[in-house]
Amino acid sequence: MKKIVILGAGGHGQVVADALKLMTDAEPVAFLDGNPEVMGKEILGLPVPGGNKALSDIDHDGVIVALGKNSLRKKIFHELKEAGEKLFSVIHPSAIISPDAKIGNGCMILGGAVVNTGAEIGDNTILNTNCTVEHHNIIGPHAHIAPGSSLGGEVVVEEEAMVGIGATVLPRTRICARALLGAGSTAFRDLPEDSVAVGIPAKVIKKK
Ligand SMILES: CC(C)(COP(=O)(O)OP(=O)(O)OC[C@H]1O[C@@H](n2cnc3c(N)ncnc32)[C@H](O)[C@@H]1OP(=O)(O)O)[C@@H](O)C(=O)NCCC(=O)NCCS
Repeated sequence: MKKIVILGAGGHGQVVADALKLMTDAEPVAFLDGNPEVMGKEILGLPVPGGNKALSDIDHDGVIVALGKNSLRKKIFHELKEAGEKLFSVIHPSAIISPDAKIGNGCMILGGAVVNTGAEIGDNTILNTNCTVEHHNIIGPHAHIAPGSSLGGEVVVEEEAMVGIGATVLPRTRICARALLGAGSTAFRDLPEDSVAVGIPAKVIKKK
């Protein structure tokens, strides 16, 4: 069993811990979190010995950066990679992943997520509960496909972009880097970099 440390003991980190507990080749051994409210406590039966600096004191084979904010997750991912850490991808056993799909390092693929043939998922990306990543999607690193969202075939989601809860992206549409498609919205056209778009059809309401 690979021993995995989860960075971030918040709600998302706890969902990641649950998924890890169900894997057959890996198990969570600790959370790391600098929040004084959780340091020194146990969460889901796992210790929270301290912030990220405590990593060197823990016997482990890999780490997962379980933070929802894409930019922060990216920063910590790169720091850990440069420090020689192995970024582990957690895949909930109820996720359906095509044998032909490519999954990067440090990804979090949660309960009921579907990844169809030819899809490529970049490093450190979250495919959240019950999302659908259709055939030949290219999902960049540090992206977040939120719960219940649906991406049609050949969609591209670039680096650090986010597709909100229950949102829909029509086939062959591109969500450019760091863009955010609001919850329940539908993207019929490409979203430009750093844009925030909402509604059906999604319209850009601001730049980040
Ligand atoms: C798009 C979003 C980021 C906007 O948040 P915000 O910057 O705080 O914007 P506001 O709440 O001030 O809303 C701005 C306007 O957009 C509208 N709006 C916001 N989100 C919307 C949505 N998802 N769909 C339709 N309209 C939306 C608001 O009603 C408001 O309209 P108004 O100016 O006519 O009153 C946010 O509402 C959202 O959808 N976030 C995604 C959350 C999510 O999916 N998280 C996943 C966690 S796992």
